[in-house]
Amino acid sequence: MASSCFMLSLVAVVMLLHGGHGFMPLFSLNGNSSRTHRDITREAVLRKTAEVCKSIATSEGRPFSLTIDNSLTVEKVQEACSGNSTAVLSTVMYHTSIATMYFSNALVDLVYALSEEHHFDDETFKGGRDVLTSDIFAVKASVKQENFIAGRVALGRACHTLQDFYSHSNWVELGKTSPYSALITPDQTLENLAGPNVATCRNCTNGDCTNNILPDLLQQGLLTSGYFNIFSSEKPAGKCSHGGSFDKTSKRDPTGGISKDTVSSSHGSLHPQAADLAVNATIELLEDIRLAVGDKDFLRLMGLSQSTVLCFVIDTTGSMADDIAEAKRVSFEIIDSKRGTQQEPSAYILVPFNDPAFGPLVMTTDADKFKAEINKLSASGGGDIPEMCLSGLQLAMTAAPPSSEIFVFTDAPAKDADLKSTINALIESTKSVVTFMLTDVLASRRRRSAQGAANRAMSQADAQLYRDLAKASGGQAIEVTKSDLSAATTVIEDSSASAVPQSDGNILVTFNNVPAGEFVLRIKGEDSTTSRAATTSFQRQASTQIKSSSISVTAQVNNTSIEPGASLSIPFTVASMSNGAVNQNASGAFTVKAQNDRSYTSSSPSSVTMSEGKANGTVTITVPSSASSGTDVTLTITAQDASASDINFTVMRFSVVAAVTDVTRPVCEVVSTTGDCSSSVCSSAQWGITANISDGVNGTGIDSVTVNQGSGTLNTSSSTSGGINITVATYSASCCAQSVELRILDKVGNVRLCTGQAKAVTVTAAPLTNTTTNSTAIGLHSVSVRHSLWVSLLLSVVWWY
Ligand SMILES: *[C@@H]1O[C@H](CO)[C@@H](O)[C@H](O)[C@H]1NC(C)=O
Ligand SMILES: *[C@@H]1O[C@H](CO)[C@@H](O)[C@H](O)[C@H]1NC(C)=O
Ligand SMILES: *[C@@H]1O[C@H](CO)[C@@H](O)[C@H](O)[C@H]1NC(C)=O
Ligand SMILES: *[C@@H]1O[C@H](CO)[C@@H](O)[C@H](O)[C@H]1NC(C)=O
Ligand SMILES: *[C@@H]1O[C@H](CO)[C@@H](O)[C@H](O)[C@H]1NC(C)=O
Ligand SMILES: *[C@@H]1O[C@H](CO)[C@@H](O)[C@H](O)[C@H]1NC(C)=O
Ligand SMILES: *[C@@H]1O[C@H](CO)[C@@H](O)[C@H](O)[C@H]1NC(C)=O
Ligand SMILES: *[C@@H]1O[C@H](CO)[C@@H](O)[C@H](O)[C@H]1NC(C)=O
Ligand SMILES: *[C@@H]1O[C@H](CO)[C@@H](O)[C@H](O)[C@H]1NC(C)=O
Ligand SMILES: *[C@@H]1O[C@H](CO)[C@@H](O)[C@H](O)[C@H]1NC(C)=O
Ligand SMILES: *[C@@H]1O[C@H](CO)[C@@H](O)[C@H](O)[C@H]1NC(C)=O
Ligand SMILES: *[C@@H]1O[C@H](CO)[C@@H](O)[C@H](O)[C@H]1NC(C)=O
Repeated sequence: MASSCFMLSLVAVVMLLHGGHGFMPLFSLNGNSSRTHRDITREAVLRKTAEVCKSIATSEGRPFSLTIDNSLTVEKVQEACSGNSTAVLSTVMYHTSIATMYFSNALVDLVYALSEEHHFDDETFKGGRDVLTSDIFAVKASVKQENFIAGRVALGRACHTLQDFYSHSNWVELGKTSPYSALITPDQTLENLAGPNVATCRNCTNGDCTNNILPDLLQQGLLTSGYFNIFSSEKPAGKCSHGGSFDKTSKRDPTGGISKDTVSSSHGSLHPQAADLAVNATIELLEDIRLAVGDKDFLRLMGLSQSTVLCFVIDTTGSMADDIAEAKRVSFEIIDSKRGTQQEPSAYILVPFNDPAFGPLVMTTDADKFKAEINKLSASGGGDIPEMCLSGLQLAMTAAPPSSEIFVFTDAPAKDADLKSTINALIESTKSVVTFMLTDVLASRRRRSAQGAANRAMSQADAQLYRDLAKASGGQAIEVTKSDLSAATTVIEDSSASAVPQSDGNILVTFNNVPAGEFVLRIKGEDSTTSRAATTSFQRQASTQIKSSSISVTAQVNNTSIEPGASLSIPFTVASMSNGAVNQNASGAFTVKAQNDRSYTSSSPSSVTMSEGKANGTVTITVPSSASSGTDVTLTITAQDASASDINFTVMRFSVVAAVTDVTRPVCEVVSTTGDCSSSVCSSAQWGITANISDGVNGTGIDSVTVNQGSGTLNTSSSTSGGINITVATYSASCCAQSVELRILDKVGNVRLCTGQAKAVTVTAAPLTNTTTNSTAIGLHSVSVRHSLWVSLLLSVVWWY
């Protein structure tokens, strides 16, 4: 979520550490001849998304003309994926999503610089696969909860570890030309690993490492990886090193290394092969995720489908009784006005709030379901005190992707006004636009007292809070009496229409200095690119208010995921800055606030005192054990100076990820095959299979069984056998399509593909069969004889996957 500032600061840090290890994170030092993690991730994402769009187009009978090769660009893929839609959407979201993945990928070199498992160093194949497994499950769990940003972050990390395998191990030297699938299939055993006492390398000769891997090792096909340490030269006897100037182990016998990080690494000549394999392995990982989450959510994860979200935060206290019908009507109008247009949101979020409660958050992609949810709202409770408006808004802002549109309906002042700085921080980092519909700012006093209700009218000062927040986000605070509310609808619709980003042509402007305090950015210019002789002048204004601050807040985040029931401590530092450096002379205290959007318990100091311009503190957040895996939580730490004139913040996002206990794929056994496809007219015949599917005694259970390839019909039923739940899948289809691939998913996203084929095809294709031209005889007589052979052939196919 804090993507923009996150990226800028990261670029700087990563550039400093570019000499780490692994493929270069973002930028190549050898011109463009060495490929970076960024190049590899980008290429894999572009290819895989294009393939998915192609398969969707094919299944819908649409043409797909894009050639899938290594010249794909974000723009080409997005255009091809938008299919017959004439409105080509902005590519900003797709660009941003890919960037989130590769920045998270690059971050692994900083956060886990010394963790051998994260890089498959030191022969940690088992540990490396465990790291990968836990990241891959985190991706799947996040997507299931529609937390796409958290999903991209976990995916970026997984890509890093996976890609490093091809640079750091001897997989390429072993002559392999396809990815090592067992790395992303945790129920497969990792075979042929060089044991701890097996020597793997010999000295490089005069700096030439071409043949430093022992020939015996390669002959036996044993897998090894280089040792790496920046502090110590210790390594087990006879083992290969990573190599390079940072790696002390490569200075000791056997000297030199085997890494293929860049063209100038020890095994640099193999860099292109390693990078190609890393691309293919990343594509294979993306396919696994696609199978687990489905095409639609896969494209959303990649950032390809329109993903702004429309949010409504609605006050449901008793006093809203008069206004709630109107709030419903207005929100329905907003929803309907966007349907079928380019501004149609990809999802809708509803957060009701009350006193003292707020939420639960409802998120759906279906506009009608969403309207039904809004319709269920009724006003009750609350009354004499202000409501939890900003808490509800905070929940909506952290659940929605950046640049979403949020409407808040309320008639009461915020009880939780202390969240103002947190909301401001979220506005700044998400660039979401918040519009407040304030009913009865003026009239409520009269109306409430006439009704005998307690006085809960909003003063102008109360309303000012909402106005400030709206203004900071580029939205509006619309103050209306009940009678005006319908007129206000028009204003909202206008404002929401104009909130569409300006979609083509990014302009990069650099400033030498920025004014102190709050400001907005407006750019005026002349467009000379138009073909007309006359230039066109234009003006752009950023919708979000910008603020400069001399406070810096940085958190030392070690861990991006938390298990349900666990606590995480996050040390942070607040500093007073002056001209880009810590102002050593500054003293005094900062007021500190730590807030999270899930109302999880957290503790933090209420203030920290500076020494030499800096102050430290620790925030601890505790996730309840009831939290479900894939939930994400956003923690905001704000620091304000003593005079309350300057404020800054840091926003962190964590995923709640339960420990993975089920890494075993479901099993599928085809128990019978029916029908006969030997007839010459395929459409007149039917065939089918029955398969028993289970997730085993220790599995999490079957989540779904769907047809991945095939055009027949699938029915499933449940039964049990020996305490194990069995899903019985029955597939039947016309003989015109004689094969099927079932996609079987368990509750945590382990995928099994199960294939079946009609009989006649097997009979003609099987090499053992003595084919005769008398097809009738095969159909009626021979098949029953060969049935068991055929079933065992099929089973071996099934088990092989
Ligand atoms: C860098 O990329 C450009 C364009 O893709 C290409 O023409 C050039 O040869 C590349 N340079 C190297 C060193 O690979
Ligand atoms: C695209 O084409 C398909 C099939 O021709 C049609 O069902 C679908 O509605 C079209 N989509 C758009 C956005 O026009
Ligand atoms: C990667 O996959 C593509 C397409 O399947 C294939 O053509 C290419 O040879 C593979 N590259 C390597 C290095 O295996
Ligand atoms: C390998 O190189 C190291 C350092 O140059 C040297 O001390 C050692 O004797 C060499 N080992 C062999 C077997 O040549
Ligand atoms: C807030 O702090 C961060 C981290 O120190 C810094 O990069 C950022 O520029 C600060 N924000 C403002 C508005 O100055
Ligand atoms: C981060 O993790 C390392 C070990 O993995 C630990 O030594 C260090 O204290 C941790 N830092 C924080 C801030 O938790
Ligand atoms: C992250 O947290 C988990 C527990 O939630 C812990 O097992 C793991 O060691 C932590 N990792 C680091 C690097 O601190
Ligand atoms: C803050 O923590 C860092 C290390 O975490 C330490 O070096 C520094 O001295 C601490 N500063 C203060 C003011 O406590
Ligand atoms: C199921 O789990 C139990 C306890 O962890 C273990 O002893 C058993 O071998 C497992 N069964 C299978 C089939 O994996
Ligand atoms: C079998 O399914 C039932 C109902 O779906 C479930 O409650 C039970 O835990 C499952 N048993 C096993 C062993 O998975
Ligand atoms: C196939 O059938 C022919 C004639 O019936 C027979 O001569 C031949 O040996 C058979 N081949 C096999 C591989 O069974
Ligand atoms: C097929 O086999 C049956 C029985 O063996 C025989 O009666 C029939 O003539 C054969 N048909 C052809 C076309 O060879």
